[in-house]
Amino acid sequence: MVEKMGKKCRISECPLFLNGKEVPYSGNTSADVIWFGESPGVTEEKERKPFVGDAGVLSKRVCRKAGLPWKSLFIMNSARCRIDKSNMTDREIGAVLECCRKKVVRAIRAVRPKCIVACGDFALRQLTRQKGITKARGKWIWSDEFNCWIMPTFHPAYILRNKGLLPVLRQDVKAVVAFIKNGYAPADMEDENVRYEEVQSIRKILAVSYTHLTLPTN
Ligand code: URA
Repeated sequence: MVEKMGKKCRISECPLFLNGKEVPYSGNTSADVIWFGESPGVTEEKERKPFVGDAGVLSKRVCRKAGLPWKSLFIMNSARCRIDKSNMTDREIGAVLECCRKKVVRAIRAVRPKCIVACGDFALRQLTRQKGITKARGKWIWSDEFNCWIMPTFHPAYILRNKGLLPVLRQDVKAVVAFIKNGYAPADMEDENVRYEEVQSIRKILAVSYTHLTLPTN
């Protein structure tokens, strides 16, 4: 019964303490790619599963069309409980993200992905401590902290409100598929879109290829 109702937020410093209903992460725990969202919505909170509402339907369709099977992914969020933006200040949202960060870090370190698709500004903020998804989207970022690449993109819920941007989300997911086909390395390193300043040294690029070459999956 307790399990069905969902675990309440137990982090006393969190603005959602005892009110937030935790939605567990789900999917393939040995995934090469993590689909990383913002926070559960109302549907996800009810079903206790991430990305099962409208944004999830769109995410699955975009991934399928790009050739990225949803089942191959690990699905998680920047916050475990629903962030109701209309009733929370930016400071409170920041505090929720900070309180959930330990769980985020633990999960990513356990999965050890080659890449994380950061959907939206909260995701970018949680993973890189940077803001500004509009500028960041579509450009690979190397994360020393998570030892993997990050592809920031617009949140699918934002795309649902701004349908003209759907091709942009599609393009970013296609870049992830190209990354996989390229041996888990950005396929567009010569492309002016790649943010060279984020690639702190050639060693890291080699480290990614090296891991890929020395740790065959079969
Ligand atoms: N939006 C998210 O960011 N995550 C979900 O799980 C659902 C909607």
